[in-house]
Amino acid sequence: MAKANTNNKEWNLAPAPESADHVQVKEKYDLFIGGKFRAPSGKKYFPTINPANEEVIAHIAEANERDVDMAVKAARKAYREVWSKISAAERGKYLFRIARLIQERAREFAIIESMDGGKAIRESRDVDIPLAAAHFFYHAGWTDKLQYAFPHQKVEPLGVAGQIIPWNFPLLMAAWKIAPALAAGNTVVLKPAETTSLTALKLAELIQDAGLPNGVVNIVTGAGPTGRALVEHPDVDKIAFTGSTDVGKMIQRSLAGTRKKLTLELGGKAANIILEDATIDQAVEGIINGIFFNQGHVCCAGSRLFVQESIASEVDRRLKHRMNSLILGDPLDKNTDIGAINSKGQLATIESYIAKAKKEGLEMFQVDCAVPRKGFWCRPTLFSDVAQSSVIAREEIFGPVLAIQTFRTIDEVIDKANNTPYGLSAGVWTDKGSRIFNLTSRLRAGVVWANTYNKFDPTSPFGGYKESGFGREGGVHGLRAYVKLDA
Ligand code: NAI
Ligand code: MG
Repeated sequence: MAKANTNNKEWNLAPAPESADHVQVKEKYDLFIGGKFRAPSGKKYFPTINPANEEVIAHIAEANERDVDMAVKAARKAYREVWSKISAAERGKYLFRIARLIQERAREFAIIESMDGGKAIRESRDVDIPLAAAHFFYHAGWTDKLQYAFPHQKVEPLGVAGQIIPWNFPLLMAAWKIAPALAAGNTVVLKPAETTSLTALKLAELIQDAGLPNGVVNIVTGAGPTGRALVEHPDVDKIAFTGSTDVGKMIQRSLAGTRKKLTLELGGKAANIILEDATIDQAVEGIINGIFFNQGHVCCAGSRLFVQESIASEVDRRLKHRMNSLILGDPLDKNTDIGAINSKGQLATIESYIAKAKKEGLEMFQVDCAVPRKGFWCRPTLFSDVAQSSVIAREEIFGPVLAIQTFRTIDEVIDKANNTPYGLSAGVWTDKGSRIFNLTSRLRAGVVWANTYNKFDPTSPFGGYKESGFGREGGVHGLRAYVKLDA
């Protein structure tokens, strides 16, 4: 991979790979149940690979129904005997400790995240890992202040939470799920995604080092069937899921009529809207960040770009120029902007959408850079003059593929932007505050960014409308999903 970054035409940068020498990855990882690592009862392990070179990094235990049952029992025991008995301030102490340990080991976590998932080290180092620590710090502060978060109400935990997370932000999603659950007094069984289990398992080691009481956090690895066993386990009080809309709907059907609580954070097809009075260079950076950040593996990716007609050709010119300077290659290289696609399957999905768009006759622009021979790669791609009816304007692609549409009036763009089964996020670029307020109040999206994109903070709630799911994560709203309230 040493020369991966030299394919860029404008910048002939020497490789600057982050050293992985100090990183400790074991050959084999067991399940984390009741505070100990245990071999899976079916004795099955599956490989996790580095999507940038297809090399096997480690083997991961596959949890079956028996293992999931053991994990839920461990979580129940910890809830009953320890976690619901100790003081809230004591709970907070553990969360602060976990947050500090993540900060101390940030470099190792960032490297493993990039190796296992394919994302550029610049992002795992500057976004994923610091935000994961921030989530633990933020929620640590809430543990002994829940009565102020929900004044005049009796606040109680739910019990045992089953949490299923995807592969696009592996450690960050683990933190989004675990931190509020523990802060509110619940115990947890977490299932990471099968292509990116490593940082969750490193987190399990860190949790042991933090001295968290046994069974408060349990981590069961495996694919869909492991997740299903957790969803269907009768002694789980709540399921929190982030992933595809299809699996989200299946989970909702399977929980219908049970007493289990559910939050779903599903797909998106966000509109990023550039008005004619926007600062164009700043907006172009926002477009790039919106869709090419993390190879477009982002549920809130700005995958539909709406540009006001009068500036369309200027935006097109500057956007293509900027795209040509993006550096694609080795995720561990500090200069890399665009890492590897997470899996072979995801690459096939993205490529099938590109093929469909071409078949529709849409005009395509793709950065003309070399891609490494091994691994899964997709060049940054855009399609111009996309119709509302086009498949790439309607369906979530989850890759670095941008669909561009133009508009004349504000009413027109609001109609177009809201014309989607999703409603997770949106972006607005304009010089005028009044226009921001007009658009943000009429766009049906859980998060609307103004003159920025893909900004996250543990204090602000994140979540969607319609088929993007329900429930919020982050802020007081996120805590609400992990408590029972009695007036
Ligand atoms: P997925 O929804 O299958 O995977 C997400 C998680 O759910 C993983 O941990 C997986 O093991 C688990 N899972 C799978 N089947 C399950 C079941 N029946 N019961 C319980 N858990 C189950 O997503 P996948 O197949 O990896 O990606 C497919 C598409 O989903 C992507 O192309 C993208 O469009 C979308 N997606 C959206 C995400 C988001 O953040 N909203 C994250 C990942 C994928
Ligand atoms: Mg992997």
